[in-house]
Amino acid sequence: MAQGDGEHEAEASSARKLKSESYFQEKELWGFIHRSFTKSMGYTEEDLRKPVIGICNTFSELNKCHSHFNELVEYVKRGVWQAGGLPMAFPTISIGEPYIKPTSMLLRNLMAMDTEEMMKAQPIDGVVLIGGCDKTVPAQLMAAASVNIPAIVLTGGPMLNGRLNGRSLGACTDCYGFTLEHKAGNITDEELAIAENAVCRSDGHCMVMGTASTMASIAEAIGMALPGNAAIPAPDSRRRHMAERTGKQIVELVRRDIRPRDIMTAEALENAIAVTMASGGSTNAIIHLIAISQRLGRKLPLETFDAISASTPFILNLRPSGKYQMEEYFEAGGVPALMKELEAHLHLDCLTVTGRTIRENLASARTLNRDVIRTAAEPLDAQGGIAVLRGNLAPDGALVKQTAVTARLKKHRGQAVVFESPADMEARIDDPDLDVDENSVLVLKNAGPKGGTGHARDRADSDPEEAARPGGARHGTDLGRENQRHVLRRADRSRGARSGGRRQSGVGAHGRLDRAGH
Ligand code: FES
Repeated sequence: MAQGDGEHEAEASSARKLKSESYFQEKELWGFIHRSFTKSMGYTEEDLRKPVIGICNTFSELNKCHSHFNELVEYVKRGVWQAGGLPMAFPTISIGEPYIKPTSMLLRNLMAMDTEEMMKAQPIDGVVLIGGCDKTVPAQLMAAASVNIPAIVLTGGPMLNGRLNGRSLGACTDCYGFTLEHKAGNITDEELAIAENAVCRSDGHCMVMGTASTMASIAEAIGMALPGNAAIPAPDSRRRHMAERTGKQIVELVRRDIRPRDIMTAEALENAIAVTMASGGSTNAIIHLIAISQRLGRKLPLETFDAISASTPFILNLRPSGKYQMEEYFEAGGVPALMKELEAHLHLDCLTVTGRTIRENLASARTLNRDVIRTAAEPLDAQGGIAVLRGNLAPDGALVKQTAVTARLKKHRGQAVVFESPADMEARIDDPDLDVDENSVLVLKNAGPKGGTGHARDRADSDPEEAARPGGARHGTDLGRENQRHVLRRADRSRGARSGGRRQSGVGAHGRLDRAGH
């Protein structure tokens, strides 16, 4: 369906046979079985004639960021029923960043495959994807891109700000800070315990502009979540209202047959990149957007990110790059207000899950706090948050969140101290005998997952041609190349003084990195 199609096409598509009809209206044996088993759960004949809306519930008590999802599901169901659909919740794996070591990134592709297969295997006509913690929303967007049935994203929302002695705290930025202060002997065990209780004080995902908030913003910017979804705090009643509205809207998307590939176009991906750059979003967003794009059969080179970053003003004053957190972002107008400021940098004709364009969605958006969301004319920085660097340290490209580093570190020379993996870093970073000083550049070679499940999608996430191949059945043993990018972290003085590592062999005392294409 082309962008901006009107009522005529919507009516035509409503005549399309729904997948659920082939299950529940079938006359033969399997129709009997489908109806009999489903009615046993209390559904009536009338219910089985409605479009079936799957609600992908990633609730888990082992994923704190999703611990409130069962309640959200009930609000989504309310909206689906109101709009004339039949809601049916189903689980997939739920991957939470705090417990899965070294990172839940190792399981993102598995979650994408789980979600994809459940969306394909079940008699659902549309799906509400409820995610939140870092790698869950990209996994769900990857699945939506592959399966391409009507889909909409609802995120669980950020936590309320942490509070301690009148100070606003954020996860995980302050988790690192308190731990290092304790390690340095600057705070006591008791003070550390008080801080632990104060940082995370509600349901929801991390409330700084980390990966979770970035991916929630991207889901909105790319058109796959309703406007305003990303920033509503998890415990706020308006999150429940958003859940209900999302439930209503997925039924409308099914009726109009609006699908993820109608929405996640090349231009929509560029909008998502621009919003990420203007927000000081996470460098992980680049890894995830490449994977989503490849599920759509498109290459998304690092140069595209760098070019958009170079031309997009950084205007969102949120930690870790700025001062505030998601709670203040919500009160200032959230993603719609930021996108309104960015209109000159966006493709405004992109279709969204509202059934309307970005331009139409932003008609009434406005900023309510200018210290949180700056204007494009008076930005915090003329360029976006992430720069792509190349050099002898990273010939394939390295990412720097330039808005989150001090001016002193933007031009820096120092010896490269290389860790081969997160485990290598854990094992050696506190060794006082390792060769490091305050000018050292710490390099973590984050190889990501190696060795795959054999699923064709393991390949597809790194190979756009495979991704585009219908039902591609090639088996692979390696996961995405996008996961294998080296992540560079420049040491600040305090961390460098306590850290250890070894010199990069073959590089010499000074590595070189320059901004790609600049
Ligand atoms: Fe889930 Fe930070 S731990 S978003």
